[in-house]
Amino acid sequence: MDSASPTATQLKKSEDPKAARQSLTITDNRTGKNYEVPITNDTIRAMDLRQIKVDPTDFGMMSYDPAFNNTASCISKVTFIDGDAGILRYRGYPIEDLAEKSTYLETAYLLLNGELPTEAQLKDWTYHVTHHTFIHESIKKFLDGFHYDAHPMGMLISTIAALSTYYHDAKDIFSPESRKKQTYRLIGKMPTIAAFSYRHSLGMPFVYPDNDLSYPGNFLNMLFRTTETRYRPNPTLEHALDILFILHADHEQNCSANTIRGVGSSHVDPYSATAAAIAALYGPLHGGANEEVLRMLMEIGSVQKVPDFIKRVKTGEVKLMGFGHRVYKNYDPRAKIIKVAADKVMQKMKQPDPLLDIAKALEEAALSDPYFVERKLYPNVDFYSGITLKAMGFPVSMFTVLFAVARTVGWISQWSEMIEDPQQKIGRPRQLYTGVTHRDYVEMDQRK
Ligand code: ACO
Repeated sequence: MDSASPTATQLKKSEDPKAARQSLTITDNRTGKNYEVPITNDTIRAMDLRQIKVDPTDFGMMSYDPAFNNTASCISKVTFIDGDAGILRYRGYPIEDLAEKSTYLETAYLLLNGELPTEAQLKDWTYHVTHHTFIHESIKKFLDGFHYDAHPMGMLISTIAALSTYYHDAKDIFSPESRKKQTYRLIGKMPTIAAFSYRHSLGMPFVYPDNDLSYPGNFLNMLFRTTETRYRPNPTLEHALDILFILHADHEQNCSANTIRGVGSSHVDPYSATAAAIAALYGPLHGGANEEVLRMLMEIGSVQKVPDFIKRVKTGEVKLMGFGHRVYKNYDPRAKIIKVAADKVMQKMKQPDPLLDIAKALEEAALSDPYFVERKLYPNVDFYSGITLKAMGFPVSMFTVLFAVARTVGWISQWSEMIEDPQQKIGRPRQLYTGVTHRDYVEMDQRK
């Protein structure tokens, strides 16, 4: 069932012959007037509240919802989440099936186009993405301008924004052909720019894309190749990275998806809008949490110190990073898959990591503690992803970068859907003004 379909309870209600019509009656106790507002998909339109007025000069009723806790900002067919049941589906396909059977590029095609590709479509899509992996030579100079210890996320945000200065055709956002071209470029170039940012921070030469490798294999090549004449990615790592990319590909209206929709609603080019989405992802409450989880585990230091840390979380002194989610009030299905992947990577790499033991002990302690149970706080995608990436050889500063590479397709899918939606306009929320209403200007010599 997708998010636009009626829920089971709704169907029961409408099958009941005595069921009332699909509308909401609101009584304004200030005036005694009744208003009937239509209900569609368990939702009323906020604009239908505007008719509720005390007198004709009144602006009309609004809804107040900081942080969009209970406001749908769009109609979407891309990704479905049932947070209570711990379900995540891309275009109707369960995340578990995609992680097991698909590849990142196939999943990316699915997210963008709504259907799994045929063999010929996948070949064509892979060809185009692979043939847009190179970046203009002058972008290398641009990257060289960053300080040696610049965070790769900062470099990624700026360099993706700079792509808009190279591709003027990107402004043609209502042309499906132009959007397709920018999509190839963004998905193709994102790993290259991400890897170049990392190599710059190490002071190592950039490694050019190898078009004979898979999407994750080439990313590993550009990150880690040193003196080999031909880089051959470790198949375990290549596969684990592909799974991580699939799990991070989209997540409906999260902070960064909302950002690309909001910024894109001004009709700016997709490079500028994607740069804004990357900036949103960088924050520690969003994609930056994977970095924070690792720092937290290192700070805890040993399984014995877990009970003390849990006490500090409960007093509000610190947050348990990688726990909790606005939508999931159950185990994040991505965290389950990553936990298994983390075990596999460590077994194959023969690199047991004490941080994994600390993470498992933390999870066990939290899931049996009333503080976390009552608040329905479960591990989210970031809880185990950092440990997995660390075992794969990724430096901590690259964790969120990797997330951004994978999420690019989700951002572009959300952005394209918004551009094609005739109901969408420039995003512009209202406010409740509680400041001073009006006062006369005070001359400098009269101010206290
Ligand atoms: N540790 C401790 N307590 C927490 C945590 C946490 N990680 N998350 C939520 N809580 C508590 C809150 O303090 C609050 O308690 P209260 O009712 O006593 O005030 C209650 O649980 C509800 O939390 P909210 O802050 O209202 O939840 P919200 O939906 O606004 O926040 C968020 C969600 C930002 C993800 C939050 O859980 C958090 O900060 N988690 C840690 C950061 C993190 O892991 N972010 C990654 C999210 S996944 C992603 O973006 C890819």
